[in-house]
Amino acid sequence: MNRVFKKWLWGGGLSFLSVLFSVEASAQNGLTPLSARERENFDLSWHFHKGDIAIKRAVKAAGYGGLTDINVKVETNKEAVIAYTDVDKASAFKPEDWREVNLPHDWCVEGTFVNDRSIGSAPAVSGYLPGGIGFYRKEFEIPETDKGKKITIEFDGIFRNSTVWVNGQLMGRHQSGYTPSNYDLTDILRYGNEGKNVILVKVDATEYEGWWYEGCGIYRHVWLNKTDRLHVDRFGTYVTTVVSPNEAAVTIKTTVKNEYKAAKNITLISKIVDKKGVVLDTKTSSQLIAPLSTTEFSQKGAIKKPLLWSPETPDLYKVLTEVSENGNIIDTYETTFGVRTIEINRNGVFLNGKLYPVKGTCNHQDFAGIGVALPDKINWYKLKLLKNMGSNAYRCSHHPPTPELLDMCDSLGLLVLDENRLLSSSEEGINDLTTMLYRDRNHPSIFMWSMENEEAIQGTVTGARILETLVKTTHQIDPTRPVTAAMNHGRNEGGYSDVLDVVGYNYGDKGLAYVKDHEKYPNRIEFCTESTSFISTRGEYQNDWGKGYVSNLRLWQPNWGPLPGEDWADIVKYPYLGGLFVWTGFDYRGEPTPYQWPCVTSHFGFMDICGFPKDGYYAYKAAWTNEPVVHIFPHWNWPGKEGESIQVHCYTNCDEVELLLNGKIIGRQKAVPYTKLIWKLVYHPGKLEARGYKNGKLVTKDIVETTTAPAQLAMQSDCKMIKADGTDVAVIQVAIQDAKGRVVPTAGNLVKFFIEGPGQIIGTGNGNPSSHEPDKASQRTAFNGYCLVLVQSYKQAGEIRLKASSEALKGGEVVIKVK
Ligand code: GAL
Repeated sequence: MNRVFKKWLWGGGLSFLSVLFSVEASAQNGLTPLSARERENFDLSWHFHKGDIAIKRAVKAAGYGGLTDINVKVETNKEAVIAYTDVDKASAFKPEDWREVNLPHDWCVEGTFVNDRSIGSAPAVSGYLPGGIGFYRKEFEIPETDKGKKITIEFDGIFRNSTVWVNGQLMGRHQSGYTPSNYDLTDILRYGNEGKNVILVKVDATEYEGWWYEGCGIYRHVWLNKTDRLHVDRFGTYVTTVVSPNEAAVTIKTTVKNEYKAAKNITLISKIVDKKGVVLDTKTSSQLIAPLSTTEFSQKGAIKKPLLWSPETPDLYKVLTEVSENGNIIDTYETTFGVRTIEINRNGVFLNGKLYPVKGTCNHQDFAGIGVALPDKINWYKLKLLKNMGSNAYRCSHHPPTPELLDMCDSLGLLVLDENRLLSSSEEGINDLTTMLYRDRNHPSIFMWSMENEEAIQGTVTGARILETLVKTTHQIDPTRPVTAAMNHGRNEGGYSDVLDVVGYNYGDKGLAYVKDHEKYPNRIEFCTESTSFISTRGEYQNDWGKGYVSNLRLWQPNWGPLPGEDWADIVKYPYLGGLFVWTGFDYRGEPTPYQWPCVTSHFGFMDICGFPKDGYYAYKAAWTNEPVVHIFPHWNWPGKEGESIQVHCYTNCDEVELLLNGKIIGRQKAVPYTKLIWKLVYHPGKLEARGYKNGKLVTKDIVETTTAPAQLAMQSDCKMIKADGTDVAVIQVAIQDAKGRVVPTAGNLVKFFIEGPGQIIGTGNGNPSSHEPDKASQRTAFNGYCLVLVQSYKQAGEIRLKASSEALKGGEVVIKVK
């Protein structure tokens, strides 16, 4: 295979467009089209204002209640308030002070790196990008025909501490940056000729919730939901299955809300359909629902010979719900679910009755060029890269993820450890937990809930009491999954572990704490919730304090984790550990351990922040896949080191590897599973080749060659076509090659991009953890041979032509169709 693209990781198979389960076929099967409920995406055409806005307290007196908590800086009047929170009646709203943005949006990533804690720029929480306060404002119209409907707005995630007003009325506040918020707009909206509507959202990201880059703004999707006043409640279905050899018994619980002042006699029909839309079972129930109340229906259906969900066979089903009154369909609702069993016991994790070692990665929501505001395509892209690495599981560290990510894990086949942000049994803490549980409990991908990560009061009596409340709450809302907490201390103190179903080990500690504890505590079920924390900078082979780089050759590592792949040896040896989640799949902004400024990005990823693999990636690919893997490093461009001694390292899953330099055999070594091979040799430029043997047969090889100077750019897009929907994205990798088409592993040329056609560049990156170049730009310096550019479609069909140029190099071009 061409060496140039060998390490570029396109997955075959499922495409982004086909990922979302389709029931279009349902019409052909005589099902009523699901039209009664509308879920309108509300991401487009917002106005954004960075910084605080002065609105006067007096407004309260003027009848615009609740505005007093907006910072008051300058004298304004009622008109000004109306201007911001209501339609444009007054002159105070100056559109020129605002700019138009589409969501998801993260204003933090648009900032300039600065080493100044006094303005909120810190290494861990923001990756040296200041946070602050921002406002979002959107005008919209609601047709007369919507009068009488129930209209709510759902924010999937705002980082953080948001306050929402609609038409001058305070709707509410939501602190958590990681759980969704929902407001009932029915009474407040203006319908038809009543006038325009305005929504104003204040986002105060001056405080933080974690120790990684968290971004700022409305960074997840927003939805406007329109239903009848008689409707399935928010997160109102819960589908569970019990599997026997030839059948799955399906229990469908549906909460229907009657917001009329009159009782309603309703019929609830639940249809179980397969992925082609074929109806497998239909259940009908009728009941009178009292005025202004909710009723839970419980129905039992069945699937004969169900296709069981697993990461290898991610087969999905749906329940299509219809609420009708007097034969008229009033509301419809869709719930995707899967049929599978999960059990975690003293022998390990069992999926569909079979021992299933979990090969997971921990991840934050973050990517090159865009911060935490990930279009769906980028979530999908990241998950595909993880699957290509051989991973079968994803830990949402340390908070509930964006909901689409869970849909994708269902469809692509990745088990999920869904994690609550904080160990808190306060009203707010419980609300955040229950929102996660109600929102997410139908996803077959989720195999376990995590209550918290490394909270300081782990192992204390108080901590145990709080944890017990959270565990009980979780069992009540979802009795089908075990509950864990990701612990780095206190596992054997304060009764903390006793209230958990599964004790989560963040790192086994030196001396294999999890093995000792397994023997010492005969009732304890364990799982390795976090491991490794290996630090490395892609393409670097020497630590550099000045630049903030960490060598891939293990000259240095945090002392709490093993080397890449070594942690897997424990799982193989002690399968009762169930599997593990390595820290982390991808680099993320913030937490630049072991450095600080000028380093702004973490080094923990087995891929960098752009998704380019580091050497350690191959340790896991070797451990987790059946594909023969031989990967040698470092690169072979060491001018001035001719004749000096050098080490060559190798990750492999072959039995033996033979190393040759310029055709001469250096040596053949037997591989020890999950352990790196190392050769010592004398450096001479040329061709280094590693040949992998299984059962004495050559099965794969890796070649590293000394290149000549950069001569040309090569570009590769992950797709040839994107949707003309204003959200789809093409991910374009750019490599700096020599005249023979080999990637120059030390190249740092500046690459400039020129785009034509119906799309825009939304971000660039290069994986350099100390790069202070703006991500929102049409140029990027390559880092160790590569950089990345993200191109998003407009809502217009055509052809995007992205050209790249670099001084003295032959340029490149990719063409992407927009349909
Ligand atoms: C863990 C923690 C992670 C990250 C990691 C770095 O203890 O859970 O969030 O900080 O350490 O090694």
